[in-house]
Amino acid sequence: MKFTTLLFPAVVLGAACPYGTYAPEEPTDTRGVCPMLNTLANHGYLPRNGRNINENQTVQALYDALNLTPDFGRFLFKAGRLSNPMPNATTFSLDDLNRHDLFEHDGSLSRQDAYFGQWSRFNQTVWNWTTQYYTSDLLDVQIVANSRAQRHTRSNLTNPMYSLSEVGYLFSVAENAAILSILGDKVTQTCPKKFADYLFTNEQLPFAVGWKKSALPITIQDLVTTFLAIQSATSFPPPPPDDSSVDIFN
Ligand code: HEM
Ligand SMILES: *[C@@H]1O[C@H](CO)[C@@H](O)[C@H](O)[C@H]1NC(C)=O
Ligand SMILES: *[C@@H]1O[C@H](CO)[C@@H](O)[C@H](O)[C@H]1NC(C)=O
Ligand SMILES: *[C@@H]1O[C@H](CO)[C@@H](O)[C@H](O)[C@H]1NC(C)=O
Ligand SMILES: *[C@@H]1O[C@H](CO)[C@@H](O)[C@H](O)[C@H]1NC(C)=O
Ligand SMILES: *[C@@H]1O[C@H](CO)[C@@H](O)[C@H](O)[C@H]1NC(C)=O
Repeated sequence: MKFTTLLFPAVVLGAACPYGTYAPEEPTDTRGVCPMLNTLANHGYLPRNGRNINENQTVQALYDALNLTPDFGRFLFKAGRLSNPMPNATTFSLDDLNRHDLFEHDGSLSRQDAYFGQWSRFNQTVWNWTTQYYTSDLLDVQIVANSRAQRHTRSNLTNPMYSLSEVGYLFSVAENAAILSILGDKVTQTCPKKFADYLFTNEQLPFAVGWKKSALPITIQDLVTTFLAIQSATSFPPPPPDDSSVDIFN
């Protein structure tokens, strides 16, 4: 059998891998900090090479794969487009999102801080820190608030360059809201832990562990609702109230 005959089926399969079907990334593809966008590229909802993604492709992919409304898709695309260093860009590539301290921030759930080295791809050590705080099989607002607080506290205590801008903060809370309201269930604001673990670890939609696309369309307001709930459930150790009955200096 000729070499080209052996090669032929693989080439055909590769080229014909249908929209929505998972295929692992190739070494020439580009990926970045967002586990969901990497996943959508691995499924061909976004260009499989991860490059030059336009608004139409983004809106269509987020609708087809996740049932995000077109308004929400256009809103998210704006963040992608702004991360492209070219002025007035109309597309972005997944690695444009890696620009540290634009949208990419310290204290991520599954990426180490840029200070420590490679910061754009999944890191099992960091994800283990996060999942140690996933203390139930069903993630809820309180659990993701706790694990998010853990990551930022750990970064602040160990990374001498730790910082968090206003935008970084908004993204950090919003990403945790996205786990509950987009990957999970926007009504109950919960997500099975195995869906999150499967998605982050494999960068593949978690059909194999029972996930289904939301039957309800998901709007920006849905994300905002969960964002606010996580924000109010977050408590770093607060200062104690003033107590004049205790005076240790007397
Ligand atoms: C055009 C659409 C999107 C853009 C431009 C975008 C952008 C980003 C960026 C810049 C980060 C890195 C933040 C960091 O430093 O950790 C990120 C992380 C993340 N994104 Fe997306 N994203 C998009 C869509 C989505 C969707 C639809 C989901 C739904 C589940 C999602 C879930 C997440 C999660 C959970 C993280 C946190 C990863 C971690 O902390 O390790 N993203 N995204
Ligand atoms: C994207 O473009 C295709 C082809 O031009 C069109 O059929 C589709 O409706 C567009 N999708 C969105 C969300 O605009
Ligand atoms: C980008 O947009 C601005 C404002 O719309 C415009 O003034 C500028 O000429 C544009 N730059 C390029 C490189 O197209
Ligand atoms: C993952 O992150 C940990 C903690 O920052 C670091 O020690 C390790 O080298 C990272 N692994 C990779 C492959 O970058
Ligand atoms: C992460 O946790 C799993 C399960 O507890 C363990 O088997 C694995 O060795 C850990 N990996 C790292 C890099 O810490
Ligand atoms: C890190 O912790 C210190 C000490 O508690 C605090 O003053 C500082 O604001 C924290 N940094 C950020 C970016 O939150």
